[in-house]
Amino acid sequence: MKKHLLSAADLSRRDAIAILDTAAELLGVAKRPIKKLPTLRGRTVVNLFFEDSTRTRISFEAAAKRLSADVINFSAKGSSVSKGESLKDTALTLQAMGADAVVIRHHASGAPQRLADAGWTDGVVVNAGDGTHEHPTQALLDAFTMRQHLSGLGQDLAGQRVTIVGDVLHSRVARSNALLLSTLGADVTLVAPPTLLPVGVEQWPVATGYDLDEAVEGADAVMMLRVQRERMNASFFPSAREYSRRYGLNTARMNRMAEHAIVMHPGPMNRGMEITADVADSDRSVIVEQVTNGVAVRMAVLYLLVGGAQDNEETA
Ligand code: CP
Repeated sequence: MKKHLLSAADLSRRDAIAILDTAAELLGVAKRPIKKLPTLRGRTVVNLFFEDSTRTRISFEAAAKRLSADVINFSAKGSSVSKGESLKDTALTLQAMGADAVVIRHHASGAPQRLADAGWTDGVVVNAGDGTHEHPTQALLDAFTMRQHLSGLGQDLAGQRVTIVGDVLHSRVARSNALLLSTLGADVTLVAPPTLLPVGVEQWPVATGYDLDEAVEGADAVMMLRVQRERMNASFFPSAREYSRRYGLNTARMNRMAEHAIVMHPGPMNRGMEITADVADSDRSVIVEQVTNGVAVRMAVLYLLVGGAQDNEETA
């Protein structure tokens, strides 16, 4: 396994399966009265968040604490970043405090890569979402959830049909899922208005389509993407109502899905836009499970990357 987790493309099939299998074992920790393992005792994990987050930030914090690491939570809001401090100086400051791992979310695509390549930290760098580029641990928790419901633990996702719907253009979740799911053998179809598909999507390991009614029928999992209005500086569709009508998942469309098929969303959701409230809260929805699984998957990533680094040092 590579030292850092910057992209889903960093993971071979073997690496991805190792993380998913480890997460399956660690999922049980959350059900224990004392939810802690001593694995990362004495290690420091820094959560470096330059962009807002609920699920990812909290689940990385819970994951690190459940592995007994010391956790430093850094949020750009309220820090010296608001006085103009650079990523480099922020990273060097945190390095001076002895970070063994830096979990970074940044509005700029490529910021985690820069942090890893420039040597501003000696620790492991984990990408917790960079701009419109990637969100590899989200893809891992999505794959974990699909495995639970579709192929079974211990399996890959060979032949599973996954439809990813909506604002692919601005979605780091879509890119990481396309890469990881294809590594795991799934057949991925992106469904979006032509204006919300990125240039070069034909080089992604996926099929594309524009008809959601057709796409939901053959899918084992339908993953709805948030419409990221905060990243849009132009009009990509005529109106919210028109978007929902053509690309929203409502009960009528959900009823066309196969009986075993699941509904996913990385969150946060725009209820009433890309997904209706009754679909989000239905029995088909695994959206809350995705969040639960996020802690186990992030424990597995820290366990294998930071704990693995520790083992290597001890045996060197
Ligand atoms: N899915 C996801 O990244 O959610 P947050 O922005 O709340 O972390």
